[in-house]
Amino acid sequence: MEELNGVASAGINNGNGHHYYHQSSVATNHRLRKPGRISRARGRRDAHVNGARVSSEQVQIQQQQPPCTDFDMAYFHSYAHLSIHEEMIKDRLRTETYRSAIMQHQDYIKDKVVVDVGCGTGILSIFCAQAGAKRVYAVDASDIAAQANEVVKANNLSETVIVLHGRVEDVEINEEVDVIISEWMGYMLLYESMLGSVITARDRWLKPGGLILPSTATLYMAPVTHPDRYGESIDFWRNVYGIDMSPLLPLAKQCAFEEPSVETISGENVLTWPHVVKHVDCYTVTNQELESITTKFDFQSMMRAPFHGFAFWFDVQFIGPGTFSANGDSQSLEGSQRRKRANPNETLVLSTAPEEPPTHWEQTLIYFYEPIEVEQDQHIEGSVTLSQSRENCRFINIHLEYVSGGRSFVKESVLR
Ligand SMILES: C[S@@+](CC[C@H](N)C(=O)[O-])C[C@H]1O[C@@H](n2cnc3c(N)ncnc32)[C@H](O)[C@@H]1O
Repeated sequence: MEELNGVASAGINNGNGHHYYHQSSVATNHRLRKPGRISRARGRRDAHVNGARVSSEQVQIQQQQPPCTDFDMAYFHSYAHLSIHEEMIKDRLRTETYRSAIMQHQDYIKDKVVVDVGCGTGILSIFCAQAGAKRVYAVDASDIAAQANEVVKANNLSETVIVLHGRVEDVEINEEVDVIISEWMGYMLLYESMLGSVITARDRWLKPGGLILPSTATLYMAPVTHPDRYGESIDFWRNVYGIDMSPLLPLAKQCAFEEPSVETISGENVLTWPHVVKHVDCYTVTNQELESITTKFDFQSMMRAPFHGFAFWFDVQFIGPGTFSANGDSQSLEGSQRRKRANPNETLVLSTAPEEPPTHWEQTLIYFYEPIEVEQDQHIEGSVTLSQSRENCRFINIHLEYVSGGRSFVKESVLR
């Protein structure tokens, strides 16, 4: 037995030489276990569980769940560092929208059971406790869970918030839950592939008619012009202190634009109305439909400009179950409606669009090696496929095909 911040734990070897810990006290109907941001692949893990009693149902759950790989360990390990949580918590738009959403849905939360998928420092769990939740299961596979437990204690919420140190795929919660809350969105929405864990939590524990916050998510893309960025990274090499360094241009283009770039652009960089790449209804989405997403687009440039690449961004909505139609679809909101509302009875939207205040997610840009001159009203047609990388399913492969002015282009990149 090992001691983890005062909590008795039994070591569990995952078969990769790493140890996990099972919390063996605190309450009868839960356990605390820990594995480790940015990688999950199809490796294997030994199923044995040392020093802990495991029911046959639990073994079955473990067998059905994806194994915890070395990529997962590295991913969870990255979330053990406080700086990443600091960055997220200091993103006021993010954190305050979550808090507002929780308070807006207080009627669903008060006296109810909540699970926080990936609790980090415990902040969303504590907001739920403040909203009157009867019990909150705060689950995190990263070592940050131990810190969350301390924060819970310091705020005298140990009776309400139960920290479970382990993957949502593995921990046991022996009751159905009324609410799932999670901040699972990665860059370009799907980076990190954490939505899969929310799906797992939903399918394991959510009561019929339960609430999921956020409830929908939409990924957008649009063509952009960004002469300043192109100039800084590329044209710079044409004249460096009077020296012609243009032989470096091919390398400069490769280094600057081979991979996606997470950066903040403004609405002025965007050449057209956005296209919806994927709309996710968290009540019904399946893991399978997230493995590969393909969409066709046909943009029409609103101006004459050098076209430098495509930008991707997302928004999420916090909608109560009552606002959903019988087929589970949320009411759709268009254009200027997709933003954070002041009126507490209206749908809260957390948007990372270029015209909105910046967030730590910024936007994700796929630049071309050469800009394409487009005329006003010119069409930019093509398709994009986003797929989970085979190397590490938390990474995203991006395959772009597009035609403009009669020329065809293909761009492959990986968000890793
Ligand atoms: C984006 S952070 C959000 C942290 C916190 N909820 C907040 O809003 O500040 C996501 C957290 O989820 C955890 N996480 C990701 N996948 C998980 C899984 N399958 N099981 C448990 N925790 C997970 C990570 O370790 C990380 O701490």
